[in-house]
Amino acid sequence: MGHIWRCAHLLLYCCLLLSTTGVQGSGYLKYKDPKQPLNTRIDDLLSRMSLAEKIGQMAQIERSIATPDVIKNNYIGSVLSGGGSWPAPQATVQEWASMVTEMQKAALSTPLGIPMIYGIDAVHGHGNVYKATIFPHNVGLGATRDPELAKKIGAAVALEVRATGIPYIFAPCVAVCRDPRWGRCYESFSEDPKVVQMMTQIIPGFQGEAPPSSLGRPFVAGTRNVAACAKHYVGDGGTYKGINENNTIIDFHGLLQIHMPPYYNAVINSVSSIMVSFSSWNGVRMHANHFLVTDFLKNKLKFRGFVISDWEALDKMTNPRGSDYHLSIKLGVLAGIDMVMIPFNYTGFIGNLTSLVLDNTIPMSRIDDAVRRILRVKFTMGLFENPFPDPSLAGELGKQEHRDLAREAVRKSLVLLKNGKYGEKPLLPLPKKCGKLLVAGSYADNLGGQCGGWTITWQGLEGNNLTAGTTILEGIKSTVDGSAQVVFSEEPSPDFVQKGGFNYAIVVVGEPPYAESQGDNLNLTIPAPGPSVIETVCSNVKCIVVLISGRPLLIEPYINKIDAFVAAWLPGTEGKGVADVLFGDYGFTGKLSRTWFKSVDQLPMNVGDPHYDPLFPFGFGLETHPSF
Ligand code: BGC
Ligand code: BGC
Repeated sequence: MGHIWRCAHLLLYCCLLLSTTGVQGSGYLKYKDPKQPLNTRIDDLLSRMSLAEKIGQMAQIERSIATPDVIKNNYIGSVLSGGGSWPAPQATVQEWASMVTEMQKAALSTPLGIPMIYGIDAVHGHGNVYKATIFPHNVGLGATRDPELAKKIGAAVALEVRATGIPYIFAPCVAVCRDPRWGRCYESFSEDPKVVQMMTQIIPGFQGEAPPSSLGRPFVAGTRNVAACAKHYVGDGGTYKGINENNTIIDFHGLLQIHMPPYYNAVINSVSSIMVSFSSWNGVRMHANHFLVTDFLKNKLKFRGFVISDWEALDKMTNPRGSDYHLSIKLGVLAGIDMVMIPFNYTGFIGNLTSLVLDNTIPMSRIDDAVRRILRVKFTMGLFENPFPDPSLAGELGKQEHRDLAREAVRKSLVLLKNGKYGEKPLLPLPKKCGKLLVAGSYADNLGGQCGGWTITWQGLEGNNLTAGTTILEGIKSTVDGSAQVVFSEEPSPDFVQKGGFNYAIVVVGEPPYAESQGDNLNLTIPAPGPSVIETVCSNVKCIVVLISGRPLLIEPYINKIDAFVAAWLPGTEGKGVADVLFGDYGFTGKLSRTWFKSVDQLPMNVGDPHYDPLFPFGFGLETHPSF
């Protein structure tokens, strides 16, 4: 009897399973059947979609306006968090996941039940999220020259992002920054396309390693990985004077040689999406560039994922911004943009795009191409089968293993540019029994400063209250011998330094956090009080200067006073990695991923240029050995 009951239960369970996956009877929907070939699923779903549903798939809106009704009524295909856009201050993984869940329920409640895809910038770890592991920004990763490390970081970031229920990230930035005056230079791995290409190994880290049969086509291994986005296509790092979103003046050959190569690797490595650059190429806005987006990227390189526009980029195509949205949408969609990061004016987007299709300005074939690409990614990554956050991943956020990996990345990203004055013996590594040690400078005990932009907020924040992590000062304190005396003074007076009886000093100076245009800078000087702290301390004590910055800064006027000089870039939350190397638990191995200029009037100046006269050349970096 019990046996019969068990069988009946099993049968009932099977029926339920079949009906929920849509694989049975009259309710059978081919597109919901994961056993069907990918193209069959896409064709089947596309054939059932109305124009409104198609346009909805192409729409990406901001979290702050994405109510369940907005998502449902407009068939919204994607939602994003802009920089610093969280469900609540210091939101927990559960708060993030339940936000995504609510939105997803709304998307699935539409007649066709197409899941929405939630995207976020995870450009150096899951930056918007409280207590996430923050890795060095790309400029530092470039200095490691370690693609395996990049891949491991990608995998760790993917898990932290999935912990919050999010399946899609706007990373990596594969810009080839040719001018450090650009405010986004730290988002670039290097000025050398070969180094950027090498570091695209972060993509198989994010998405999981594609099997040979999937290479060159969008691929995401499963729910422990995320869909990635290579950005910003193309030439974002080559603008005039490094002005953000400006014009990149270069011939086609130069574009192919310098800015395009990372996209070859991204496409071959199965990147799921590519974001278009705000910038122009020889005066033509990339968002309107049919030749580069459609003819080159889609047709020549055979990119099969979707092309996404940047934040309000279509609005920015007209002056004043948004003044002719109809024209902007026409140009952008006809150029080949598939998903539009609107992110607010969705009624304008839907209304205008609908009329452009109805009056045949935009052919239905263009809309179908866009939707196919978006659906291809959603199907491939298993979003239809697994649309909801997986609560079992909650513990991945900020976990120790990831922090250890970030600390390793910090160690490998440090570049030692000077070690002892001319004719003197090397100063580093310092002995752990260092006697009385002065630590000075605004960035020695400044977690926000060492993380930089895209951390908790869009622009980043100074100070120690933003998230969990270890400052450089804390790292030093926990590394030195018990006999050592560490004295911290942010801005010590000459008297204090002279009378302090210090054996050594570590001075940590640098740039405040910034993102995008706010970081554009034509002088590239070390902000006050950095120079005066260097002056005061280094005139009196044997000093190591550690620079926290998104790019090389003007150091030539001070370099002779400094005994040892370390470029630490924007290391992130694991400041202990700096002390690991200063005190010889590990050696210095990092190599400049950028040219260190003598003066700004040399810029732009990159490795291979005919009149190359740097202070420290690309690829330079002294090495030390661990001191045991
Ligand atoms: C958003 C960012 C976005 C920027 C664009 C900000 O308000 O938070 O995500 O990159 O605007 O200008
Ligand atoms: C930036 C992108 C970013 C987007 C969303 C834009 O302003 O240029 O890199 O992915 O905002 O935050």
